[in-house]
Amino acid sequence: MKDLQQYLHSRAQLVERALEQYLPADDIVPEILHRSMRYSTLGGGKRLRGILALAAAEAAQGSGEAALPLAAALEMIHAFSLIHDDLPCMDDDDWRRGKPSNHKMFGEAIALLAGDALLTRAFYLLTCLSLPDDAAVVNIVAEVAQAVGSEGLIGGQVVDLQSEGKNVDRATLEYIHRHKTGDLITVALRTGAMVGGAGEDLLASLTTYGREMGLLFQITDDILDVEGDADKLGKPVGSDATQGKATYPALFGMERAKEAARGAAEGAVAALEGLGEDAWPLRELAGYILHRDR
Ligand code: IPE
Ligand code: IPE
Ligand code: MG
Ligand code: MG
Ligand code: MG
Repeated sequence: MKDLQQYLHSRAQLVERALEQYLPADDIVPEILHRSMRYSTLGGGKRLRGILALAAAEAAQGSGEAALPLAAALEMIHAFSLIHDDLPCMDDDDWRRGKPSNHKMFGEAIALLAGDALLTRAFYLLTCLSLPDDAAVVNIVAEVAQAVGSEGLIGGQVVDLQSEGKNVDRATLEYIHRHKTGDLITVALRTGAMVGGAGEDLLASLTTYGREMGLLFQITDDILDVEGDADKLGKPVGSDATQGKATYPALFGMERAKEAARGAAEGAVAALEGLGEDAWPLRELAGYILHRDR
């Protein structure tokens, strides 16, 4: 099988099933919290971070199946970040994945707490990874914590907020994109590969690939906020301009933003040189993300 669409569809289904299994049922007390967690995590989203973890495990000739709890944990962390990102005190967006944002359905307090509970649940799930060596589990927990924390995703979100309405320089813009979005994508690849039993060379290649893909993904997110279709995206467009966000199109103009995206996609493919046939989905994903419309 070498059809990327089919690959993405099948892996997204596996991630969806794992999430269904690992999220608390919505009849467990407090029901409202569990309903809120499930509302924002299930039944939507491209599942890119989960799929990257599975694809990296496969590129390391490991079993994608062993990486399913990891894939689910990463998607829970991603869902936490989206719930909080949409709050009125952050980006103040009312739509996500084609439906009202979490706080629109459940109120701000439950949205905040559902995000907290998803992040916490994700780390619990990581401790349940069954690997031959306990030290590998500890390493994965540490890497994910580092990628999400104050010098990772959350740090990126802080600088994103602080930069609203300002003329930031290129280095600050890159800091925002690499951390708020790039770090989770990179750690999905690294930890997926670790579950697959990757050696240092493969980890190094996937780290470079992840850094380029993370940048590519956020530049295309910025571009789609200007040129995209809200129905296809399932979220509002024009939100970045309204909020005065630091984005590639805002800082460099659309043509140079697209050039930067192409450069990152090429960098991502180049990082995979020397990897075998099992890395084909990763190779094809770079072009797919470059040209995505959702
Ligand atoms: C949106 O991520 C937030 C960013 C980091 C740009 P996605 O575009 O992957 O959102 P879903 O998971 O498909 O909804
Ligand atoms: C979000 O970036 C990054 C995280 C959620 C960590 P954006 O604010 O650009 O994402 P969207 O456009 O709302 O999905
Ligand atoms: Mg944001
Ligand atoms: Mg946002
Ligand atoms: Mg955006």
